[in-house]
Amino acid sequence: MAKLMRLDKYLADMGCGTRTQVKDAIKKGRVSINDEKIKSPETKIDIETTIVYMDGQPISYVQTEYYMLNKPQGVVSATEDRKYKTVIDLIDDKSRKDLFPVGRLDIDTEGLLLITNDGDLAHRLLSPKKHVDKTYYVELDSKIPANAKEEMLQGITLEEEFKTMPATLELLNETTCYLTIREGKFHQVKRMFEYFGCTVTYLKRISMGPLTLDETLKVGEYRLLTKEELLQLKSL
Ligand code: URA
Repeated sequence: MAKLMRLDKYLADMGCGTRTQVKDAIKKGRVSINDEKIKSPETKIDIETTIVYMDGQPISYVQTEYYMLNKPQGVVSATEDRKYKTVIDLIDDKSRKDLFPVGRLDIDTEGLLLITNDGDLAHRLLSPKKHVDKTYYVELDSKIPANAKEEMLQGITLEEEFKTMPATLELLNETTCYLTIREGKFHQVKRMFEYFGCTVTYLKRISMGPLTLDETLKVGEYRLLTKEELLQLKSL
């Protein structure tokens, strides 16, 4: 079935200008379909089959975008910020203007962050009921106590009477480990180690549900999700 959309919305969604600017461009004859100038902004077009040209450049419609970012430190997990660069600012070649990060990593946390405009998928990934596993690589300022592994598995009670769900700790050496948690409370990993008197000195997320950080992505780099990654996420 055809998916119809107004021409001015099509162009505005694809970042060709504000609704007023693209209406103006259409009226001035800068927009064409099949070599025919279209001068009415209300013209309905099938977004799946039509290619619109603006100033001779083809603009195909992208409904949803999914990027895997290796988040660097010093950048905030938000769509806009007065002080800091946001994770969205790092996605240079985006088509959509409505991208957002799925969940948050602290400003000093690195690693896997999904960026999309697919609200349904984000909702499912973040839903507390879904218990999506998130694995972090953690470096600490001091030795991880011997009882930490067992206690984290049982769940520990942080402030405000919040008891964590069973978390898996895999020691790499005395002060580094992988920790897999199922929730995503504020500063959760840092708070879980504070409970044992350890301070996190470096934190990097390496997986979220079926999605694993692509090791070829340098810090600050991103790529589109593969079809397979997307299918796995959508089948959650
Ligand atoms: N836990 C934290 O403490 N910080 C993060 O950024 C993510 C999980």
